[in-house]
Amino acid sequence: MSRWWNKSRLGGSGPSASTLIGALLIALTAAYLYERAPFLAAFYNNAPERLVRVNNLGRSHDVKFAGRDGVRSCEDALMVESIGVAIVACDPGRERWNTVMGVFLPDPVPGADIYIYDYKSASTPDSEALQRVELVGFPGGSDLHTLGMAFDETTSTLFMTNHAKAGPRIEVFKLEVNALKATHVRTVSHPLIHGPNSIALVSSEEFFVTNDHAIPATRSKFVSMLETYLAPPTGTVVHVDLRGAEVEADVVARVPFANGIEILNATTVAVASTSRGAVYLYTLTPRPLPSSSQPNDDKAGHKRTPELTYATGIKVPFLPDNLSLWRSKTGETKLIIAGHAHAPSLTRFAATRHICNDHAELSRADPETARYCETATAPSWVSEWSEEDGLRHLYVDTEYPSSATAARDADRGVGIVAGLYAKGLLVWRE
Ligand SMILES: *[C@@H]1O[C@H](CO)[C@@H](O)[C@H](O)[C@H]1NC(C)=O
Ligand SMILES: *[C@@H]1O[C@H](CO)[C@@H](O)[C@H](O)[C@H]1NC(C)=O
Repeated sequence: MSRWWNKSRLGGSGPSASTLIGALLIALTAAYLYERAPFLAAFYNNAPERLVRVNNLGRSHDVKFAGRDGVRSCEDALMVESIGVAIVACDPGRERWNTVMGVFLPDPVPGADIYIYDYKSASTPDSEALQRVELVGFPGGSDLHTLGMAFDETTSTLFMTNHAKAGPRIEVFKLEVNALKATHVRTVSHPLIHGPNSIALVSSEEFFVTNDHAIPATRSKFVSMLETYLAPPTGTVVHVDLRGAEVEADVVARVPFANGIEILNATTVAVASTSRGAVYLYTLTPRPLPSSSQPNDDKAGHKRTPELTYATGIKVPFLPDNLSLWRSKTGETKLIIAGHAHAPSLTRFAATRHICNDHAELSRADPETARYCETATAPSWVSEWSEEDGLRHLYVDTEYPSSATAARDADRGVGIVAGLYAKGLLVWRE
């Protein structure tokens, strides 16, 4: 072991090596194995040949934009209901560069693109419905590898986690939806933002961001994989405040493989724990605003960091990836949980996309890989949850692979599923 825990490998930010070893050892108890049983059972039950398919998506569903000029590896779809468009980020470079799953292939690694998808009318031709956004003043060139996005409508500010080759960071853009233009505003980096995944905005200058692993695969593939399979609470939820001259960041929760995050209401935050097959709910306690008698509270540092206290967990029979929230005009609200039904299928699917999706690579591939490419799949699973109605499964299938995010515009009756390594988007209409 010592080799892996070598200080210099683990050096830098994040928890110390002994904290991590402690966390991993505690994790290895009988209670722990009992807890892990459902996760391991899913390896068997959810294999593509055994998986029980479910479709409760309503009237129709289609895989769109999957053709030659289409898009692929769109992990994000963020619906802006007020104007009936979705902001979509697609990173074909994820086939060769994935810091979460540990895929690091040599250049060329293309960068991500942002699109606006106008989903209002089913009759809009696909070629008009999906438009690429021009990035203006982005200093990183093609070094944009998107994971989570969040959009502040009042200020048109788009936040985007970027697993850049130059290091983990969050890019901030001013997005003009109608002009199809995103102007780079700033790059946010901080030692506590070491593996940024999903963002949930509190305001245009304050947000929560998850770090899925303590040790990203860029630093050690092996330790990162141990974290994934043993599931110690080494992922973090970090509160970030951009109001001051310096970026203020604080860890507010530790979660095994912290992935999607959503603020459900004024008092509850939901965080998906991929490796635990659960969504955890936390009670959010804001810190009081500094009173006029203490004018230095802001400068004093952490006074405005809210507190997250674990409240309860929702178990799901798959590996939850991302979360989204829909709210209807009548006030009904539900959490959508999208994720992966079968980890081994996803791992193989991810590791072979750079071959299966590339003519030149495929023609050089060995016969077994070539055959696999023809039938390869990574089962998707989408469910929704509310306290009143509990968990309801919407889509379990292999037709559209590797679902990472699902979002729904309840009033228009339109939903989108975005697959980590899928071609196109799955769009459903109710
Ligand atoms: C998760 O879903 C939200 C809401 O649709 C979206 O804004 C965000 O970009 C997604 N995050 C990831 C990591 O895909
Ligand atoms: C927020 O959501 C949680 C989880 O559904 C619920 O228990 C709580 O009552 C809600 N709080 C408010 C203020 O609506």
